[in-house]
Amino acid sequence: MNYSIDELREGALKALENISANDALANWRSQYLGRRGALGKLFGTIGRLPQAQRAGFGQQVNALQQELDAAYAQREQLIQSQLLARDLEEGEIDISLPARPQGRGGLHPSTRTHREFQTIWADMGFQVYHSRDVEADEFNFTLLNLPPHHPARDMQDTFYTTNSNVLLRTHTSPGQIRAMREFGAGGTKPIRVILPGMCYRQEQVTARSEIQFTQVEGLAIGRNIRMSDLKGTIAEFARRMYKPKAKVRFRASYFPFTEPSMEVDVECFLCGGAGCRVCKYTGWLEIAGSGMVHPTVLRNGGYDPSVWSGFAFGMGPERITMLKHGIQDIRYFWGNDLRFLQQF
Ligand code: DAH
Repeated sequence: MNYSIDELREGALKALENISANDALANWRSQYLGRRGALGKLFGTIGRLPQAQRAGFGQQVNALQQELDAAYAQREQLIQSQLLARDLEEGEIDISLPARPQGRGGLHPSTRTHREFQTIWADMGFQVYHSRDVEADEFNFTLLNLPPHHPARDMQDTFYTTNSNVLLRTHTSPGQIRAMREFGAGGTKPIRVILPGMCYRQEQVTARSEIQFTQVEGLAIGRNIRMSDLKGTIAEFARRMYKPKAKVRFRASYFPFTEPSMEVDVECFLCGGAGCRVCKYTGWLEIAGSGMVHPTVLRNGGYDPSVWSGFAFGMGPERITMLKHGIQDIRYFWGNDLRFLQQF
């Protein structure tokens, strides 16, 4: 039996030495090490040996298997390096060619602004809630106190689906109702959320208006929330977002879902309030619509307006991004032109 093991080893190693191609190497492997290979057969004979010889013989076959495994691995490596060397020599790989540039991805300018917004609002205790882009007419309008005849419902301003009760949200405000119903626990718990996301309006696309754009909605509901909380919160946001001493001003306005309503301006961060082309020489930039949540809207969210109150705001990050980077045309945002995107 020893004779047969030695003979097998010698034959196998000799055969291996002459191999210089991958397919021949694979054949060798199945011939010797494969399940039906020579070594396998040898293992099969163990059972037929006298008891006393079995252990010793088994050890020898095991040792041979390890030896052949190692020899195989070594040969395989040798063949690979020979093949590579040959490729290099024959010029199949031209190492003098310039490398293909590895394009590095970057964040969309709008994503950057959103992340900045979210970080600031999160630091101020607001949770981020992603509401849906496809909305029910009821949530987008009715529950927000926009009556049936309101012009914003016009087919010309809203993208309706084939189901006329289902539309692409025209603002992030419907998320207010969803957030109140989802987190308010039937009008028993306070809420502080921001609702960022894409909005859609059927408009003529120009350098200043797109059919899609993003908004960041904010909502705080609690007991004893007052107008002064809204003003203080927005002023703090402006200081964190624009500059530590940013001044804000509030102008009375009208939105159906807030009462009273205000528009918020921040001191122009390009000219510092002195007046420039960007702020149209007023020294101010409009950053938000806002107000105290209308009692009807509170009720639609499940809250009793005689106990609970709240404030809401809506901001348009694209305008801020445009001002910050001097982007002249809003159409660049969703045009997916790499020449634009790669600048950020
Ligand atoms: N939804 C308004 C719009 O799209 C923006 C807005 C104004 C949101 C006032 C608010 C708010 O939450 O209080 O123009």
